Amino acid sequence: MKIGIDLISFHTPSYVLDLRTLAEKRGVDPDKFVIGIGQERMAVVPPDQDIVTLAANAALPLLDKAGRDNIELVIFATESGVDQSKAAACFCQGLLQLPSACRCIEVKEACYGATASLRMAAAMVAARPHTRALVLAADIARYDLASPGEPTQGAGAVAMLVSAHPRVLALDPETGFYTEDIMDFWRPNYRDEALVDGKYSTRMYLTTLLEAWKNYKAASGRALLADHAHFCFHLPFTKIAYKSFERLCKAEGVPLPSKEELDRLLEPALLYNRQTGNTYAACVYEALASLLDNAPGQLDHQRIGLFSYGSGCMAEFFSGVVQKGYRQHLFTDAHRAMLDSRTPVTYRQYEDIFNYGVPKDGADHVFAPYRGGPFRLAGIKDHKRRYEAK
Ligand code: HMG
Repeated sequence: MKIGIDLISFHTPSYVLDLRTLAEKRGVDPDKFVIGIGQERMAVVPPDQDIVTLAANAALPLLDKAGRDNIELVIFATESGVDQSKAAACFCQGLLQLPSACRCIEVKEACYGATASLRMAAAMVAARPHTRALVLAADIARYDLASPGEPTQGAGAVAMLVSAHPRVLALDPETGFYTEDIMDFWRPNYRDEALVDGKYSTRMYLTTLLEAWKNYKAASGRALLADHAHFCFHLPFTKIAYKSFERLCKAEGVPLPSKEELDRLLEPALLYNRQTGNTYAACVYEALASLLDNAPGQLDHQRIGLFSYGSGCMAEFFSGVVQKGYRQHLFTDAHRAMLDSRTPVTYRQYEDIFNYGVPKDGADHVFAPYRGGPFRLAGIKDHKRRYEAK
């Protein structure tokens, strides 16, 4: 029985900062951001959006299309949680009017959480094939202002419906994973911004890629180029996809394809991330949505290789086969319209929003409405977050 992603939908905030504007302010050559790390814009999250609203905004079109029946599990993967106790999935269960006979939990392992969630969801569906699971991944990537990580900030959410007989991507059972206890990137509870050893984290990403690939190859017997039509990597910045693929080719003793062929293999999956920045847990699935929406030819029956990395660290290489007729089940037009209609912000507006944050003094608060999807954070009252549908 095939199990996998039946529908996938992506959402990002309605405000955006051009990295050339940031480069000018920081006195950096804009080519460092645009060419050196491969990023053009970063999503800017207005005060009335958080991971709950981003994820609910991603999920609504998907649920409107697929209905809510038999959804028995909602897993929310994030490292930007809004509460130390209540799962963000519970807020979404209410906002999205999901069934009450449903398990709702939150999962964390940096950017890897969504892949763990997808595997758990697939296992539940395998045990009870008449049920479905909703996997939500949403994050807001924040680093200190003027730090090396700043141009890689971003925000976004992906919602995936997991079912038997999926219409978009059937997951292969073979997978390769690898973990190691390291401190490359982390965010202590008392900080809003992540701490990171940037160069070390990039080295560990590439090292664990090879370990996870080795384990995947041993489990599946598949070859890098002969058996995979495209690749989706976790994308802290898009340039890393090229570095990753180069490493894999070297490890396999395969000559690096021409620039034209490399772009064909990798570029369609990079288009959305280059416009949003790092979306942490959502990243590799944002890349998948980007690939499915933007690959020039038909991908029916083609196998996609995916690499998920979460700092700390946890890595997994896995794969899935695109299903025949997948195109008619995508949200391509909505994704493109959302990215094209974002409001650019000035540097001053970006910094004001960055510093606004959510009040932490426990007092009641009302959030002014900004542009965004159907759900917003309206306020905090009696220490409770109050969400509303517009
Ligand atoms: P940096 O020190 O600002 O940049 O840090 P750099 O000096 O290394 O330059 C970056 C690239 O730009 C280099 O290319 C330069 O040559 C090039 P490379 O040698 O790497 O190929 N460059 C230029 N190119 C064209 N024109 C120019 C120019 N100038 C320089 N004028 C770093 C970069 C990524 C480390 C930094 O942005 C950072 O710390 N980012 C945050 C951490 C991160 O993204 N780590 C990635 C792996 S860890 C991960 O993916 C997990 C994560 O998503 C979190 C989670 O799991 O939850 C982060």
